[in-house]
Amino acid sequence: MPLASDTVREITALRVRYPQPRSAILPCLWAVQNELGYLSAEGMEEVAAILDLAPSEVQAVSTFYSMYFAQPAGDHQLLICVNVSCALRGADAIVDHVQSRLGCPSGGTTGDGKFTWESTIECLGACGGAPAMQVNHHFHENLTPDRVDGLLERLRAEPRPSHANGQSVGHVAEALTVKAPSSGPHPPSAETPPAPNAEGPPADTGVSDPAFPAPELPLGEHTEMPGSRSKRSYTKRGSRSAPRKRPRPNAGDL
Ligand code: FES
Repeated sequence: MPLASDTVREITALRVRYPQPRSAILPCLWAVQNELGYLSAEGMEEVAAILDLAPSEVQAVSTFYSMYFAQPAGDHQLLICVNVSCALRGADAIVDHVQSRLGCPSGGTTGDGKFTWESTIECLGACGGAPAMQVNHHFHENLTPDRVDGLLERLRAEPRPSHANGQSVGHVAEALTVKAPSSGPHPPSAETPPAPNAEGPPADTGVSDPAFPAPELPLGEHTEMPGSRSKRSYTKRGSRSAPRKRPRPNAGDL
């Protein structure tokens, strides 16, 4: 089935947005998935034709990223994180709950085609709100079984998110869009780590977190990470002690 004219227009516009048409593959694939709910072989061939690329190039990109679906998926996609932070905060219970509510295993789609869900060991980067999941690429954090129930109920009443009904899922494509680099050097960032000091430990920036005050170490002691034992010792942060002199060997020892 050929792509809708709106999708073809979007892909054509994306092509001229990049110096290399190849760079537009990701957002073009999102455009196809937004329309069809997955990446059909015909849809990817159309993308390849518009971008003037070999179909295998487009297909190779689509199989690299788990966020693209090769098969028709449900209207709403749930991705539940079970990595360490989420696991420690009850992600397994959330997974069990979702499975019993939706009646299909991880990776499956409900019989009514409303939901496709999956648990993933890939951290979603929302550890501060663990346990967390993505629903149609939006984060939902601090999950509890009750919250999950409320969310599923609300989603059941909602149509598939798309450009057509104003629920954009295209923000992901926007996030993936390569911004042209600004000219000139980047201004220093407040988060830029201090440059390593070739003569010793990192220079003291004078910035400290009042919540975690540095321990007062008596002079002559130093902190040391396991396995980082060095030949030098430091009497004070930033200053190197005088190297010890090696005793001269006696002529008789040689
Ligand atoms: S461990 Fe779940 S979001 Fe990071």
